[in-house]
Amino acid sequence: MNRQDRPVLYEAKDIINRLAIAVKTAQTYNMDNQAVVRAVEALLQLQAPLCQAEERIGIELLGECFYVNAARVRHTAQYYKNIDFLAGEFRRRELGSLVFCGGVSFSEMSGFVHAFVSCMSAEIPYQRLSEETEQMGGIEIGPLKQVRQDAHADARSMVRRSYFNAVSSMRSLVTRARDGSHMHVRKTKAVVHSLIDLMMKEEKMLIHMTAIKDYDEYTYYHSVNVGILSLAIGMRLGMGRKQLSELGVSAMLHDIGKVRIPDSVLNKTGPFTDAEWEVMKSHPVEGVDTILGSEKLDPAMLRSAIVSFEHHIYYDGSGYPPVKDWLKTDLFSNIISIADHFDAMTSARVYTRVPKPPELALRILFEGSGIDFDPALIKIFVRLTGCFPVGCMVLLDTREMGVVFYINEALPERPIVGIVIDSDGERVRNRLVDLSETDETGAYLRTIKRTIDPFRYGINVAEYLGEADEVA
Ligand SMILES: [Fe+2]
Ligand SMILES: [Fe+2]
Repeated sequence: MNRQDRPVLYEAKDIINRLAIAVKTAQTYNMDNQAVVRAVEALLQLQAPLCQAEERIGIELLGECFYVNAARVRHTAQYYKNIDFLAGEFRRRELGSLVFCGGVSFSEMSGFVHAFVSCMSAEIPYQRLSEETEQMGGIEIGPLKQVRQDAHADARSMVRRSYFNAVSSMRSLVTRARDGSHMHVRKTKAVVHSLIDLMMKEEKMLIHMTAIKDYDEYTYYHSVNVGILSLAIGMRLGMGRKQLSELGVSAMLHDIGKVRIPDSVLNKTGPFTDAEWEVMKSHPVEGVDTILGSEKLDPAMLRSAIVSFEHHIYYDGSGYPPVKDWLKTDLFSNIISIADHFDAMTSARVYTRVPKPPELALRILFEGSGIDFDPALIKIFVRLTGCFPVGCMVLLDTREMGVVFYINEALPERPIVGIVIDSDGERVRNRLVDLSETDETGAYLRTIKRTIDPFRYGINVAEYLGEADEVA
């Protein structure tokens, strides 16, 4: 990464967040209210040094994503609500871009926030905002490009909202468990029910969300991803809602024992010593203890305790914790073990910076079929992810390169692909193609030739997967 890119890349979400807070506060109070003054000052505190480093800061809304100086603002559950709020406010004004050119004074920034809020009373808010910002030397605005809110985009926003909501609920659950308080699992159960509802309508999009992995907080996202992938397997096994709900809760809680592992071990970047490994390997048993200490024990929680204990025990009885007179692991544990390994292998964690490409992770699972993993469940999982899982980078017979966006369960070798490099070798964005499309003779327009390693081409797959899109 270019060093000069670092400030904006790392602070992009903060600047959007602080602008959202300033707008929100100014919608409630007068501009001279202390809360508004503090919010504008907080925004300036971030904007001023960034503007000095970058000369100008351009905030642009494209589809559902904000870009700051062309760097896509990363989605985090922590900021999601404010980012989503600001995107909605931009759309309501048909505002597409906001540029801070050089230094902006307090009165200019405060004037802009006021104009942003008050322009809604005008017949054409964008026009009013544009007239008012023209008086401000350091601020420019531009209109919204491609105002498009079709059914696909609506569904995508709904899926994102539910996904981040699940991550937030996981964060509060883990925080309570870490403090030693009783876990309130009622909210987790409600989240699992909403995920089940969404899986029935928008399964592809939810599975797509699990592949983005462009996030800072591995633990929470990992639990939600394992939940979604496990539910997808459970549905293919024909489980009813009650069973699915217990499976989802067990999956979300499978690593809860890690709250008892010291941060020095959990976040260690180098290899573990033998002693540290032993500590790490205690998380399944610590999980049982944490779950059994929760406010209310019911069948779902008892099942979760079993899963926590068993999720690192392989199909042949090896793994940890060591078991004597081993019978057979629970069906839930077998499902969650597959989802857990797949998500862990394909994620960048503190001790494995470079994740495995999803097709390689899938091959590793497949090779462990019957030894490490239940063979019948592996078959289901491979059918679910397809031979080209979401996030896998492929070369097409048209010499285009792309990233698999959505699976096509009926035709696994013909998923929907986001083109990243066109046939002339140029980088492109926001172009989705459906590989099941044919010409008038019935011949396929595009076919995958082989998978390729994104690292060789310096491509960050997560960045593409997180973007808004349109099927060409
Ligand atoms: Fe684990
Ligand atoms: Fe895990």
